[in-house]
Amino acid sequence: MTKKTREQLRSHRWFGVDDKRAFGHRSRTKQMGFADQDYLGKPVIAIINTWSDLNSCHTHFKERVEEVKRGVWQAGGFPVEMPAMSLGEAYMKPTTMLYRNMLAMETEELLRSNPVDGVVLMGGCDKTVPALLMGAASMNIPAIFMPAGPMLRGHWRGQELGSGSDTWKYWDERRAGNISDVTWMEMENGIARSAGTCMTMGTAATLAAAAEGLGMILPGGSSIPSVDSSHSRLASESGRRIVEMVWDDLKPSDIMTTKAFENAVTMAMCLGGSTNSIIHLIAMARRVGDGLVAQLDLDSFDRLSRRTPLLGNIRPSGKYLMEDFYYAGGLKALMTRIPDLLNLDCITVSGKTVKENIAEASVYKDDVILPRDQALQAEGGLAVLRGNLCPDGAVIKHSAAEARLRQHRGKAVVFKDANDMKKRIDDADLPVTKDSVIVLQNAGPLGGPGMPEWGQLPIPQKLLKEGVRDMVRISDSRMSGTSYGACVLHVAPESFIGGPLAFVQDGDEIELDVAKRTLTLHVSEAELAKRKAAWKKPEPRYVRGFGKFFSENVTQANEGCDFDFLAAKNGPVPEPEIH
Ligand code: FES
Repeated sequence: MTKKTREQLRSHRWFGVDDKRAFGHRSRTKQMGFADQDYLGKPVIAIINTWSDLNSCHTHFKERVEEVKRGVWQAGGFPVEMPAMSLGEAYMKPTTMLYRNMLAMETEELLRSNPVDGVVLMGGCDKTVPALLMGAASMNIPAIFMPAGPMLRGHWRGQELGSGSDTWKYWDERRAGNISDVTWMEMENGIARSAGTCMTMGTAATLAAAAEGLGMILPGGSSIPSVDSSHSRLASESGRRIVEMVWDDLKPSDIMTTKAFENAVTMAMCLGGSTNSIIHLIAMARRVGDGLVAQLDLDSFDRLSRRTPLLGNIRPSGKYLMEDFYYAGGLKALMTRIPDLLNLDCITVSGKTVKENIAEASVYKDDVILPRDQALQAEGGLAVLRGNLCPDGAVIKHSAAEARLRQHRGKAVVFKDANDMKKRIDDADLPVTKDSVIVLQNAGPLGGPGMPEWGQLPIPQKLLKEGVRDMVRISDSRMSGTSYGACVLHVAPESFIGGPLAFVQDGDEIELDVAKRTLTLHVSEAELAKRKAAWKKPEPRYVRGFGKFFSENVTQANEGCDFDFLAAKNGPVPEPEIH
């Protein structure tokens, strides 16, 4: 491989030339106490750090960033930490999804406007993963992702608790009157025990696995628990490796190929991963190139899902947690189960192919990473649905739904928005039975706004008390990757812009058939046309600020919810002029 010269470094334009501006750049670097020997002629490595006091999953990033810097210095680079907007899933309202594209734009612009040759992307909490990768893909300079890693297992009275999944499970028990205040408080104390991301196969764990499958994380890095000493070593190794990547000019466009995206999707499916991965991977693919746009769509996910066995025995689809997955061998071990389903010749950030990365890997615990003949189910965890209720598609994580509901026909109980649902869902007079289909409208990309994770619609309290724990539920929102149940999500086009979901009324019959991949509203076309003619477009959710900008530019779920003008079809990111 030909190595870049010092003069070919991007930062050379800032530091290496003899003009007035370069004088300023060098003198200001010296202002910070750095001598020529510290940085001149060396790759400048940005470390985009999404640490924040209000991101509980990234609290260890203050330490990790120093470890990344250590690696960069060791390899002869010049590390510069650049804080970026943190998207703390637990706190931001209405949803971090409203800000994913903002962080992606910030990442792109931080890299574009500054003297940077390569970047280590520090993220992990849900949307930070796609946002950082989307920005880096657009900028297309050497980049490596440094994941936050999952937190330790939750503990309560000798039982293990999983982020999100057990919150939803025990919240239903509390609403059913089966859990006391003291018990609930004990669970609150024990469910989140360390820094790091949700340790179920939620969105964070799914996207970390997908990012490693894509080739953007060092082999085996995606499942290392956040507080394991291996995690510190991953940080310094990422720092060392990015310097080599700069000299080798190994860029995201070399790694994030169509075949690599297929690997990423396969990993998500094999793990029973989050439905959110579909939206984010489509958005990432659109940042890389037009060719990928055509190939990575909802149907690609369904095709890859149908041929991929569900082998990750991890909650919410399975039994274990991410710490167990790591001890069982992690993602490299999982890959050894399905080499025939992977594109093994894909190059990764290690500089090696997938095949080389997994050559020495093996599974240590068969109960966590299941053999193929003992798969949790023969096909992947997600299915893409089509039908007159979702002309542009919808998704369901059927691996985490009660089997009896995968083929179901029932009468709709409709809520016009989240407030309406909150007000009436526990009404004792609500005409709902265990066979009803609960429908939430106006919770999509524009309607939510930001497509919040409201899709695990609550079971009415009176049914909880009767022992009902799953029902068919439909919305144009998303749901947390830690959630479960027969929840149809991402209905597109969304109801807020006049998609068919807007016209569903109480009592309409809706049929879900996962095996056939269909979602059907049994209302005549003539009646639907009448309802459409009478439908009034809702007022915009925002009249100012970023929300207005978001609403004017966001695409629908099947297109990844990115801003259309950021897609690769609009051309490469221009380099700034220096005058
Ligand atoms: Fe951060 Fe779940 S809240 S990963």
